[in-house]
Amino acid sequence: MQHLKKTDPQIYKLVKQEEKRQKEVLEMIASENYASSAVIEALGTVLTNKYSEGFPGKRYYQGNANIDDIESLAQSRAQKLFGVPYVNVQALSGAPANSAVYFAVLKNGEKLMGLALTSGGHITHGHKLGLSGRLFTFAHYTLGRDGTLDYDEIEKQVLKEKPALLICGYTAYPRKINFKRFGDIADKAGCYLMADVSHITGLIVSGVHPSPVPYAHIITTTTHKTLRGPRGALILVTAKGLKKNPDLPKNIETAIIPGLQGGPHDNQTAAIAVALKEAATPKFKKYGEQIVVNAKALAEGLRSYGFELVSGGTDNHLILIDLRNKKVNGRIAAIALEKAGIVLNYNGVPGDNMPPLYSSGIRLGTPAITTRGLKERDMKRVATWYNDAIAEVEGMELPAEDKVKRSELMKKYRVEIAKNRKLAAIGKEVKAFASKFPLP
Ligand SMILES: Cc1ncc(COP(=O)(O)O)c(C=O)c1O
Repeated sequence: MQHLKKTDPQIYKLVKQEEKRQKEVLEMIASENYASSAVIEALGTVLTNKYSEGFPGKRYYQGNANIDDIESLAQSRAQKLFGVPYVNVQALSGAPANSAVYFAVLKNGEKLMGLALTSGGHITHGHKLGLSGRLFTFAHYTLGRDGTLDYDEIEKQVLKEKPALLICGYTAYPRKINFKRFGDIADKAGCYLMADVSHITGLIVSGVHPSPVPYAHIITTTTHKTLRGPRGALILVTAKGLKKNPDLPKNIETAIIPGLQGGPHDNQTAAIAVALKEAATPKFKKYGEQIVVNAKALAEGLRSYGFELVSGGTDNHLILIDLRNKKVNGRIAAIALEKAGIVLNYNGVPGDNMPPLYSSGIRLGTPAITTRGLKERDMKRVATWYNDAIAEVEGMELPAEDKVKRSELMKKYRVEIAKNRKLAAIGKEVKAFASKFPLP
């Protein structure tokens, strides 16, 4: 980065600081990962200079022969990896990919239905302030009492709500999804089924999570989570989708441009192609398997310390801890864990009465630490750090209603956490441990 260092030392320094931070902590945000050096190299190429509105062979700008080849390669690699007849690689990220699908299959005001945000759904699956809520109408299904999907109940709700588009695939759901059952429900309701597999794509291509390809009409996924690519997204149309509506690929392309975007980010497309090549290897399959082995081992370790896991455990890469039995607010726990060198996010849990900024749980995942090379034998130690760090903030709860009291307590707790010696000592241990595992 010698040019960056010379031209903009301020940005250079911040990038270096971030690199150091990423090396020294346990990065356990379930949606994050470390992209490979090849992916990062592809992002930093001259491809960022190009404009290429349109699609391979039909661009609005000249000089796109190489870009056509790059985009076609990304598409064909994705088609092969997932086993689908059509893939769009241009959506700039997961949220625009979902919006493009809504534009492609829904008329204004039509209804989509996904899992409620408070149950682990995503904001793009129906939120009053988002595009899904402003241009369309939405309804939500929720989790059953045991924190898992209750398919009979979902079927009842879908048949009652009659959405034009049913969504499965989530942001904070630790269990396998029965895509076949969702396919049957959508067929019964006569609606489209979209599987947003952003979180679990890497597990699907590794064969450790069932694939929605035979059952969904459309599949969206980000490329930067378990898939380990650059930030970006794919929109897949399955054979079942083409059968229902042969115009789906055309409608999705129109939804991307002129619907939502202008020119694609060609450096991102190239990096997606690289990630797809990497994901097709036996090494990646092993990686996907290890993510789940690590998550299960960590879940076991956490449970042994009395942590309550939503749904009782995990089948995939993520764990959702309900901290109410530990008498600690989720946000407080996340701040304490960061001080201890473990980075994750606070998260709502089923039945949470706290506002989203002060939710009662934490969500953690193993994709990034697995990329660094941690194995199941390391998870015991990680679970002990969680236990020791959270023990330091036990009793730090926040009121659900009283905003003034809440912000006073928050201020006080932040000061206490910053000064806490035990957390600082754990942070040192974590730093020494994490530094032994190189970044890709
Ligand atoms: C299920 C799901 N869909 C879509 C998105 C949105 O992706 P992005 O942040 O790239 O827009 C996310 C992000 O976390 C997600 O979890």
